[in-house]
Formats: sequence, C-alpha cells, structure tokens
Amino acid sequence: MKKISIALAAVVLSTATLFGADVYLSDNAKVPNLTMKNTGLSFKDIEGYQNYKIVATHFRKDKNEIRYILANPVAYNALRAKAKVMPNGSKVVKIGWSVNDMASFPSALEADKIQRVEYMIKDATKHKESDGWGYARFVKKNGKYKAWGGDPKSCVACHASVKSNDALFTKFQKMF
Ligand code: HEC
Repeated sequence: MKKISIALAAVVLSTATLFGADVYLSDNAKVPNLTMKNTGLSFKDIEGYQNYKIVATHFRKDKNEIRYILANPVAYNALRAKAKVMPNGSKVVKIGWSVNDMASFPSALEADKIQRVEYMIKDATKHKESDGWGYARFVKKNGKYKAWGGDPKSCVACHASVKSNDALFTKFQKMF
C-alpha cells in the first residue's frame, strides 16, 4: 500500500512538473509517404509540422477556407526578426480548413475539415530558379491525402507578386 502511494505521488509530482513548466505534449503523428511528381518534394520533408509555431491566420473569402500559417524554428526566428531574406532551412506551412457554422452558436464559424497542407522550403541552391523556395501541396479529400498533380510554376508565378517580401505573403501576426 505504501509502495503504491509513493508511486502515485511520483506520478502526480512529475505531471505537475511537466504542466507547471509549461511543456507541450508534441504531436508525432506520421505524415503519409507522398511526393510531388515534378519537384520530388515530399510530405515527409515537414514531418512534425503540427508542432511548428503559428505565425499568422488568413481567411480566403473565395475558397471559404481558414488557414493557419506555421513556421519551423529557423523560419520562426527569421520572421520574428523581420529578416529580409529567409535563411536556408526555413519551412513555412499552410493548413487550410473548410468552415462550418458552430452548432452551439451559428453566427460563429468553426474549422471543419482539413482541405490542404502546403509548404514552402528554402534552399537557395536547390531552388535557385524559384527565388530559393521549393513549393509543395498535398490535398485531402474524403479523409485521404494526395500529392497535388499541378505545376508548381503556378505557385512561383503568383508568389512573385510579393518578391520584395522574399515571396512570402505572410507577415508575422502579433499576439500581444
Ligand atoms: C493565385 C495566387 C497563388 C497561387 C497560385 C499560390 N499561392 Fe500560396 N499564397 C497565396 C496567398 C494570397 C497567400 C496568403 C493567403 C493565404 O494564406 O492563403 C499564400 C500563402 C501561402 C503560404 C504561406 C506563406 C506565405 O507566402 O504567406 C504557403 C506555404 C503557400 N502559399 C504555398 C503555396 C504553394 C505550395 C502553391 C502551389 C501549389 C501556392 N502557394 C500557390 C497566393 C497563391
């Protein structure tokens, strides 16, 4: 009995230490093994992105989609420091969800299904033809991801309109 209560106390204590120290539980769900046919960029290149930090939220009115923009540590630090050019190793991820009226409060919208996960990855040598960025898109339909079959040149062309911001539309969104 004494042993059990000592063990219990240890569990409670270590849990308190964990939460008290503001430690996140990380989401290590594996991403599917999918590769873009024209660039060879794969979903695995951003495995663990669920644990990246959110840097901005966007809403595409025409697609009725809420989007979270997340950054890996290299990109996060550069965005916060307002770097003019993002360093190699930067990964910026966009998750897009469809939206639904919230059942408990219909004038509120809530995120529903993930429709896409897209990313930009910086490697100035490998992607020198596209301002140093590699582009990949994975679309989710009926619960399954697929590599988008289109031409990433279209990504580059549209993102060229924000060349002065290193091809990023995202601005670091203040939280305080
Ligand atoms: C017609 C224009 C257009 C095309 C084509 C386009 N994007 Fe974007 N992209 C945007 C806009 C506008 C935003 C900011 C709003 C948002 O989050 O949707 C954005 C945001 C992003 C972001 C977040 C970083 C940033 O620049 O703000 C990523 C990652 C991204 N796009 C990836 C892609 C990929 C990959 C493709 C091609 C498969 C692509 N985009 C094609 C317009 C475009």
